[in-house]
Amino acid sequence: MADEVTMDKIVSLCRRRGFVFPSSEIYGGLGSTFDYGHYGVLVKNNIRQRWLEAMVYERDDIVLIDSAIILNPRVWEASGHVEGFTDPLVDCRTCKLRFRADKLEDSQCGRKPSKRPGEFSECALTEPRQFNLMFETTVGPVAEEGARAFLRPETAQGIFINFKNVLQLARRRPPFGIAQVGKSFRNEITPGNFLFRVREFEQMEMEFFVPPADSERWYRYWIDARVDWYAKYGLRRSRLRVREHGPEERSHYSQGTSDIEYDYPIGWSELEGVANRGDYDLTRHTEFSGTELEYVGPEGAERYVPHVIEPAVSIERIFVAMLVDAYDEEEVAGRERTVLRLHPAIAPVKAAVLPLVAKDSAMVEKARGLYEELRGSHVVEYDEGGAIGRRYRRQDEIGTPFAFTVDEQTLADDTVTIRDRDSLAQERLAIGQVAARLGDELRRPWATPKASSA
Ligand code: GAP
Repeated sequence: MADEVTMDKIVSLCRRRGFVFPSSEIYGGLGSTFDYGHYGVLVKNNIRQRWLEAMVYERDDIVLIDSAIILNPRVWEASGHVEGFTDPLVDCRTCKLRFRADKLEDSQCGRKPSKRPGEFSECALTEPRQFNLMFETTVGPVAEEGARAFLRPETAQGIFINFKNVLQLARRRPPFGIAQVGKSFRNEITPGNFLFRVREFEQMEMEFFVPPADSERWYRYWIDARVDWYAKYGLRRSRLRVREHGPEERSHYSQGTSDIEYDYPIGWSELEGVANRGDYDLTRHTEFSGTELEYVGPEGAERYVPHVIEPAVSIERIFVAMLVDAYDEEEVAGRERTVLRLHPAIAPVKAAVLPLVAKDSAMVEKARGLYEELRGSHVVEYDEGGAIGRRYRRQDEIGTPFAFTVDEQTLADDTVTIRDRDSLAQERLAIGQVAARLGDELRRPWATPKASSA
């Protein structure tokens, strides 16, 4: 079953159920840019919230920051992005398309039948040239040279330039971390595969500052911690792997990098990167800004530039991995059912409250009363439109883990049915116990029922 989950199926479900739409659609769209609908926003909020819990709220050693998107352009000189944040680009003079020179094997020429760029006799590829991925903008009303600035391509640098503020004001000493969540922008040459590679995405990065001698230990620690986080929120371990970069593949700042990869429909690809950045960033910003970015212990007895371990990921890559992992199709009583087996903590809606007969005012009143009670604590939906089977299928497709149905018997004995999305088991319970039961169910550890078939 899992092998049949294609990106097209995910895109189509996202569209059909209002998770994600192509952006600026009424104007013909803008390549690889997307807008999130109600359920998409709820899923993104849940992913961010689970990340913040694990990285900040449940720990004593990591604090938050929210830095500006447009920083002093010198930041990007110091970080190496002005000089080195480039991809090799080739143009085709015939079909006018652009390709990454290092990804020609995976690209398709604009002519039909589609072949690799360079394989038609008419193909006229230029020599590769370096193309900087940062979006440029101008600060102030006049487009003069001095006002050139960039939209940040990563959130990490906003953390490094605030190292001294946090060290002093949050009174921290290594090991400690600074976490940031926010939009990053990259003018990718070949974006695509839905949300996997987009030009505007929400990064979640954490820079963990450690004594140099401890950096290898913390590097391994964060790789394991991040893999465990994915498994906790339902991704099958068989679809996750850690791939260590060889020296030739590493970024200029890296002393060691591992990609946590997920087996997406496009094949094994980077979900999250964990890098040992050494002292590169703090040293460079010290050089360029003239401000010493180092740790000085009490009485000045100890003085060193901390090394940095960085787990970095985008909500978009997690979003796609979680939807792919959750997507399932099965036949139930002779009918096709599409279901998102999302972890309840990630699912956009936690429960649906459904009166069996919408025309029965007593049922509607009971159901609305239950809905009002539950919505105080959870995102729940009330739905009375259409046949009950269709309403269940709609909730299955958006991944709602539980449904409470009010029926004839409710009017007689104040019980409702609870339906489990994954097992389809139904049982009755007293309406007064629903809130407590839902709370218990949502707190319970959850493992995907797909695990055995991975
Ligand atoms: N601060 C280090 C850094 O930004 P990166 O490997 O370039 O490293 C980190 O990016 C993570 O950001 C990636 O693992 C991926 O999850 C996400 N990411 C990068 N480019 C992306 C894009 N164009 N679209 C969606 N997510 C992206």
